[in-house]
Amino acid sequence: MVQRLEVACDRLALWRGRMPPHVSAPSLRVTISTVSVSREFCLIELAPSILSADFARLADEVTLAVEGGATLLHVDVMDGHFVPNITIGPPVVASLRKATELPLDVHLMIENPDLYIPAFADAGADWISVHQEATRHLNRSLDLVRKHGCKVGVVLNPATPVQTLGEVLDMVDFVLVMSVNPGFGGQKFIPGSVEKIRKLVTMRNAGGANFRIEVDGGIALDTIGDVVRAGAEILVAGNAVFGRGNPKENAEKLLKAAHEATLQKV
Ligand code: DX5
Ligand code: ZN
Repeated sequence: MVQRLEVACDRLALWRGRMPPHVSAPSLRVTISTVSVSREFCLIELAPSILSADFARLADEVTLAVEGGATLLHVDVMDGHFVPNITIGPPVVASLRKATELPLDVHLMIENPDLYIPAFADAGADWISVHQEATRHLNRSLDLVRKHGCKVGVVLNPATPVQTLGEVLDMVDFVLVMSVNPGFGGQKFIPGSVEKIRKLVTMRNAGGANFRIEVDGGIALDTIGDVVRAGAEILVAGNAVFGRGNPKENAEKLLKAAHEATLQKV
């Protein structure tokens, strides 16, 4: 058990990037040694999606989410082709970069991602994820993200089996499981996503890979427990953080529910 916790913290240390001091690996090492909680506890992160934020007050909204415990900011990029919606491009990422120290987790829902990866990296993206379905040469696209110094993520649409990732799991830092069809915030969670998360955990254990598991879409107080118990570690939430009420309180409640779920894991 101790060994597993140390491995987890070493993994986290590799991930610190621009994390604020209160989530540094040393402090977590103290937390887990005194409270003796599971490894999943120390790896849970909330990544609010700015898609549901008020863009006219974006910096303020982000500040509130950070005060509520967010340690990553999820940025949804849509091109009107891969998904039926258009959102933001590199200039907004560059502005966010000036407004927050948090790592920027840029989710590319675009065709021809290779054409735009350099621009998002230059704008300040820390993590970049590419859809398995959006690129003909997935290995090349993931390699391009790595070459630009970003954490590498691969994303699966709800209809895409996890087995399609078998050949790339050893080259990614995280796998993003879409729990809605990408394109819009505020959609209903697709329950089959829970089993996909479980399968990824099994594949990770079997293959000795070291990726983290992120889930995106319909994550709220009524779904967060199921995905955490299945093995999700990075929880994207747009509507549940920014949709209504206070983003700080919303983030706190989501993280509390997620941490409670880690204690219910079997
Ligand atoms: C959907 C986006 C999600 C979305 C999540 O295409 O990738 O990140 O913003 O929003 P909620 O949490 O509202 O489902
Ligand atoms: Zn997203």
